[in-house]
Amino acid sequence: MAMDRETGSVLRWPEADREPTRAGDVTAGSGPGTSARSGPGPSSVLDRRLNVAPMMERTDRHCRYFLRLVAPQTLLYTEMVTAAALMHGDRARLLAFDPAEHPVALQLGGSEPDELAAAARYGAAAGYDEINLNVGCPSDRVQAGCFGAALMLEPERVAACVAAMRDAVDVPVTVKTRLGVDHHDSYEFLRDFVGTIAEAGCRTVIVHARKAWLKGLSPKQNREIPPLDYARVHRLKRDFPELDVILNGGLKDEATTLAELGRVDGVMLGRAAYDDPMLLARLDAAIFGHEPVSVNEALERFFEYAEREIGKGTRLRAMTRHLMGVFAGRPGGRAWRRALGEWPRADDDRATLAKLRALAQSLVRDRLSRVF
Ligand SMILES: Cc1cc2nc3c(=O)[nH]c(=O)nc-3n(C[C@H](O)[C@H](O)[C@H](O)COP(=O)(O)O)c2cc1C
Repeated sequence: MAMDRETGSVLRWPEADREPTRAGDVTAGSGPGTSARSGPGPSSVLDRRLNVAPMMERTDRHCRYFLRLVAPQTLLYTEMVTAAALMHGDRARLLAFDPAEHPVALQLGGSEPDELAAAARYGAAAGYDEINLNVGCPSDRVQAGCFGAALMLEPERVAACVAAMRDAVDVPVTVKTRLGVDHHDSYEFLRDFVGTIAEAGCRTVIVHARKAWLKGLSPKQNREIPPLDYARVHRLKRDFPELDVILNGGLKDEATTLAELGRVDGVMLGRAAYDDPMLLARLDAAIFGHEPVSVNEALERFFEYAEREIGKGTRLRAMTRHLMGVFAGRPGGRAWRRALGEWPRADDDRATLAKLRALAQSLVRDRLSRVF
């Protein structure tokens, strides 16, 4: 896939005085849109150049709604949902998403082909654009159910899962994995794993470019301690030119991210996108060739959404907790985070929302007065 390098230098922030004529413009009530698709069903073709990683406790539907506002065309991933939870839990709640979130992929955890096939069917019926299998998460809880990164040691089982899921749904079935696990960390191990799942019909593989230690490291340490090795992912792309290879892990600035996009089919950001959503806004703009969404526009639309959600009984703090990074590294960032941490504890969510709105407006005004 090619990237429009001409637009790689569009790096402005904020754009408070800009007319809203960019991709992803929405009207209140209809939510954000993307030029990649329209309507409530799944996208027929997914543009995989820019992705936000699945993150437990983070990429819930409120977070994704906000990220869609700042990044009109980025492919968003849900938190991992286990296939078993979809079988036995509150399916409607687990699968709920706003049509405005498209394109959005559902990440599943599991290791039983039949169960994953049934879960994938539920996901596709709910309208998700893609079903992704988690073969990268190293947490103990996940190992206990024998899935996540531990599954790299059972490529045939993963292949059976992929084949069963593909038989069950029409949307793409993809796999997110690591470079390896424990001492199974040679390039050949990764190549053989990917070869096996590709034979089962997996056409897109997302690689967190470090291995996982199944014992001894916490999930957090497993995202930091094993070294990153992008060169292995580049090699994988060379060996599997027919696959879409998406690079993940440690991408946190525009220059590196855009440069990597020249070597693989797509890039996936996790922590950096969450901690600094306006970085994601700039990347979406640079990659898809439109003006960056301004911080005040994204916030204003999110506040409209929050107002509607409060009306449905959603607590304000469940939504505003995802806004902590909006003023990351900008004047007022600390005051903003403090307000988000303290104010939504109050009982009157509508009054708190009005206060947050006023604070956001004053921070943007203050920021603009420094620029001009
Ligand atoms: C809080 C948190 C939760 C995560 N949950 C998941 C998950 O549910 N499924 C998954 O495949 N990866 C999960 N990850 C890993 C990310 O998807 C990603 O692979 C990792 O953070 C590396 O990318 P980054 O350096 O851009 O953050 C999680 C990461 C974080 C920080």
